[in-house]
Amino acid sequence: MSMLKFASLTSLAAGIMMAAGAAVADPITIKFSHVVAENTPKGQMAIKFQELVEEKLGDQVDVEVYPNSQLYGDDQVLEAMLLGDVQLAAPSLSKFQKYTDQLQVFDLPFLFEDMAAVERFQNSATGVQLLTSLQDKGLIGLGYLHNGLKQLSASEPLRVPEDAAGKKFRIQTSDVLAAQFKAIDAVPLKKPFSEVFILLQTQAIDGQENTYSNIYSQKFFEVQPYITESNHGLIDYMVVSSASFWNGLPEDVRPKVEAALKQALAYGNSIALKENQEAKQAIIDSGKSEIITLTPEQRQQWVEAMKPVWDQFADEIGQDVIDAAVASNEG
Ligand code: LMR
Repeated sequence: MSMLKFASLTSLAAGIMMAAGAAVADPITIKFSHVVAENTPKGQMAIKFQELVEEKLGDQVDVEVYPNSQLYGDDQVLEAMLLGDVQLAAPSLSKFQKYTDQLQVFDLPFLFEDMAAVERFQNSATGVQLLTSLQDKGLIGLGYLHNGLKQLSASEPLRVPEDAAGKKFRIQTSDVLAAQFKAIDAVPLKKPFSEVFILLQTQAIDGQENTYSNIYSQKFFEVQPYITESNHGLIDYMVVSSASFWNGLPEDVRPKVEAALKQALAYGNSIALKENQEAKQAIIDSGKSEIITLTPEQRQQWVEAMKPVWDQFADEIGQDVIDAAVASNEG
């Protein structure tokens, strides 16, 4: 063998070894940042996604899950995503206002009768179209994830809207939610999820709205003696990535990551109701917070006080989007 041939064979072999080495040494990292605890629908879904990616892709893709606002709060995570510092997040649908008006539909009070209606709307043509509403901002909506319906917790019992007048409530960063509390003469304050417990504990605020799952896993029930079962609104999520990251995944990798995400979302959605029921039971068992059941007449008063908010946002959201959501209540 000539020296030249030998040299080129050795460099070819070195090249192959380097390529193989590089594949092993450099997995694609997907940082999944979220704000809730692990024992919640979103926390469990994120762990399931991590497991499924590991199963399907082994060392090729590494999913790192950061729960409890460890890496970013919801108010920074989308900017971090566009900068490439995080690859996956699932903020609640109330937290996209900076990026699109349309998703505010999910915040309208007393819009969905139950989670089955939410599911129908998300699967409808309008719901699927809303997944693309962040497209021009460089974000890609990969699917919806359920948490559940919101309850009102407070330092005093809330039975009729007048009971909330003058009280301070923490809300997510949504103008619809601000209008909802202003409609009952309460004072809404936009605050990050990670600060809610301390604000309640120190009585800097009087109450907040959330699902049983969040009220339990964040220990809000320990510092809120009353929870009104109002089911007045929704906390669901959109799983998002940056279009450049997602579309840039290698052709042989992306379908497997997508399949893992689809399975993880199906899993998360299948446990959401049960997680919330168990959280409610655990709160009852703790004896620390009383759950107030509204009479139909009391609940109707909340509906009448809060529903005018729909008209305030009809132009921004689009009446057609609101109508499609209302139609989903009809099975
Ligand atoms: C909240 O901020 O109250 C929720 O959106 C948190 C969450 O992700 O469930």
